[in-house]
Amino acid sequence: MKTLAPDKAGGGCVAVGVFESRKLAPAAEVLDRTARGAMRDVMKRGDMDGKLGTTRLLYKVPYISATRVLLFGLGKESDFEARAYREAVRAAASAIADTGTEDAHLYAPELPVKDHDIAWRTQHAVTICAEALYRFEEMKSKKSPQRALKRLVLAIDGGSVDPRGARGLREGRAIAAGMSLTKDLGNLPSNVCTPSYLAERAQKLAREWKLACTVLERRDMERLGMGALLSVAKGSRQPPKFIELRYGGGGKKSKPIVLVGKGITFDTGGISLKPAGEMDEMKFDMCGAASVLGTLRAIAELKPALNVVGLVPTAENMPGGAASKPGDIVTSMSGQTIEILNTDAEGRLILSDALTYAERFEPAAVVDIATLTGACVVALGHVATGLYSNRDELAEELLSAGRSAWDRAWRMPLWDDYDEQLKSPFADVANIGGRPAGSITAARFLARFAGKYPWAHLDIAGTAWTSGKNKGATGRPVPLLSTFLLRRAAKA
Ligand code: BES
Ligand code: MN
Ligand code: ZN
Repeated sequence: MKTLAPDKAGGGCVAVGVFESRKLAPAAEVLDRTARGAMRDVMKRGDMDGKLGTTRLLYKVPYISATRVLLFGLGKESDFEARAYREAVRAAASAIADTGTEDAHLYAPELPVKDHDIAWRTQHAVTICAEALYRFEEMKSKKSPQRALKRLVLAIDGGSVDPRGARGLREGRAIAAGMSLTKDLGNLPSNVCTPSYLAERAQKLAREWKLACTVLERRDMERLGMGALLSVAKGSRQPPKFIELRYGGGGKKSKPIVLVGKGITFDTGGISLKPAGEMDEMKFDMCGAASVLGTLRAIAELKPALNVVGLVPTAENMPGGAASKPGDIVTSMSGQTIEILNTDAEGRLILSDALTYAERFEPAAVVDIATLTGACVVALGHVATGLYSNRDELAEELLSAGRSAWDRAWRMPLWDDYDEQLKSPFADVANIGGRPAGSITAARFLARFAGKYPWAHLDIAGTAWTSGKNKGATGRPVPLLSTFLLRRAAKA
């Protein structure tokens, strides 16, 4: 990030925003003046109308130092809010990456976004640029040619980079790196990203960022009585792991926030086998776990003053001779017995034992993150994460963090009226509640194991990855979680 007059910015490319109806943002105005009206001329001739998400690349503009000028559309000035800013910056970053330029100056942070300060504008510019430039090619034998772009400068004209801008830059970089790790883990196929692989990556993360890491093995889980978690792993050749990561930025006495991530590295459904269509996407069933690792990566870099524990119960859900069968009854670590009516409702089983295990940290709050139910996708689609909580204040905190991070959640009811659907004639509780309100009954199931502390559950089934042509993990909800934790530390 730099302060620099746009007409003086040398190098390969200078990118400036323009509104509809030929209104130029400040940096474009400066270029236009230096270039004797060249920007306005382009607009007058109809080559750039300023529509949101559009771009126009110009070469060798007179009197301008940079080789290229990229105009990016900001839409109507009166509509220039968070969403428009993010979309405009995304388009600009992709357009820059598509050119042969090695460096670029992007005049984004100074754009006048309604109700958002320079820290927010900078942080979001960083995470969006990182998102636009993200590629996952670990599994390709031939990588696509290296991008020319080596350096992207977020530039502002006039004044010095104020401390808020610097903070936005720092937080944006850490959150972007956390999201990238989360995406990489999510995108890896399940024959590579096994529970053992996740455990190794957690240990590597701990070494790199000075976190404490413990991995519990099957026999440790047996000793603890994690019968629900173990029942899910039974059908697989891959041994389950229980990962515990600890970040200690707070005092010894300060109670930690515990994040719990669902780590099913592949969900076939087990004996209640899923249909074949799109089953490959069930490699993403560990995105909750990946978001816990990604968030801890971001937090370890930013070093806020609080304690955070990350817990990842991880297993593969497979059919097989040793697999759990419908009607099987298992005893969870909490002592509650569970009738497994559907082996495809496995996420809540592994989470239940992790939620019980979380009690030992005397947590200030526990937040679990899980690709838990198809029903949540039906309810909220791919826009909002489903949020459940047994505390209104915690729910508000998470909703607000999500709004600010543009990684939004929507609160769902957690009323005990729904418990009726989870009754079992044979055990304390059944693991499914029938078709109606499938996301809510899953949350109600979890609530039985999270009664001893403030708790929230994020159902990310619709938001953790995208399907279709641009299939891939999104890195959500790392921005929400990181923002939530940073705000907690600032409050204390
Ligand atoms: N991992 C799935 C949930 C899921 C399905 C997420 C599709 C995203 C897309 C979870 O383990 C599951 O299979 N849930 C079942 C629960 C049902 C058996 C009560 C579901 O949603 O169908
Ligand atoms: Mn399942
Ligand atoms: Zn699952």
